[in-house]
Amino acid sequence: MIVVAIGGSLLRPEVEEKHVWLDHLITIVRERVAAGDRLGLVIGGGAPAREGISLAKPLIDDDYHLDKIGIAATRLNATIIREALTEASISVSGIIPTSVNEAAQLLEERPVVVMGGTEPGHTTDAVAIRLAIAVNASKCIIATNVEKVFSEDPRKNPNAKSFDILTHEELQQIVGPAEHKEAGKSSVVDPIAVLEATKANLELNIIDGRKIERIKHTILGSDFEGTKIS
Ligand code: UTP
Repeated sequence: MIVVAIGGSLLRPEVEEKHVWLDHLITIVRERVAAGDRLGLVIGGGAPAREGISLAKPLIDDDYHLDKIGIAATRLNATIIREALTEASISVSGIIPTSVNEAAQLLEERPVVVMGGTEPGHTTDAVAIRLAIAVNASKCIIATNVEKVFSEDPRKNPNAKSFDILTHEELQQIVGPAEHKEAGKSSVVDPIAVLEATKANLELNIIDGRKIERIKHTILGSDFEGTKIS
C-alpha cells in the first residue's frame, strides 16, 4: 500500500504546458496499478485554497470556517485528478472520500483512491499520514515544492542547510510545535502531521514533486532524492 500526499501547488505549475505534470502522474499511477500496487493519493488545496481563504478572510473571523473553504479546494483538486484517472481508464474509486476510514475501506475495493482534506484543524499532510497508518503502509510520501527539508525557509535565507536524513524529533524542531497555524498557512510539512508520524514511528519521504520522476522513484524505493524521516 502506498500513500502519497501531493501538494496542491504541484497541480498548477508555473509553466505553459500545465497539463504535462498531471499527464505524467497518470502514467505513473497506471504503471503502479499494472504492477499490482494500491495507491492512496491525498491532494492539497494549493492556489484555489489560498484564493478562497483570502477572499473570505475579511468576512470570516474563525479559522474553523476558513479551513472548510480550504478543504473544499482540496476536494476540487482531488476531483481534477480523480476524473483524469477515470478518463485514462484507471480503476479509481468513484467518489472522493471525506474521512480516512472511508478512504481505507474504498482501498479494499479499488486499487486507487483520491481524496483531499477531512475536517478543520490540520492540512492534507495529516490526512495522508493518518491514511498511511490506517492502511499499514510502510511509509508516507510527501510530494511538495521544495528540494528537501531545510533548516529554515530557503526563500528567506539562501544559506539555509538542507538535510538528506532527519529524525522525527529533528523535523518537529524545524516545523515547530504541533499546532494548527492559520487556515491556508503552511510549512514544509504540517507540524500536526509530524507529531502523528512520530507517535506511529512512520517513515516519511519528503520529495520535490515538481520533478515527477522522483515520485516514481520514491514509490519504487530506488534513487531516493529528498529528505527521509525515520
Ligand atoms: P493543504 O493540505 O493544501 O495545506 O490544505 P497547505 O499545506 O496549506 O498547502 P499545500 O500543501 O501547499 O497545498 C489547505 C487548507 O485547507 C484546510 C487548512 O486550512 C489548510 O491550510 N484543511 C485542509 C483542513 O482544514 N483540513 C484538512 O483535512 C485539509
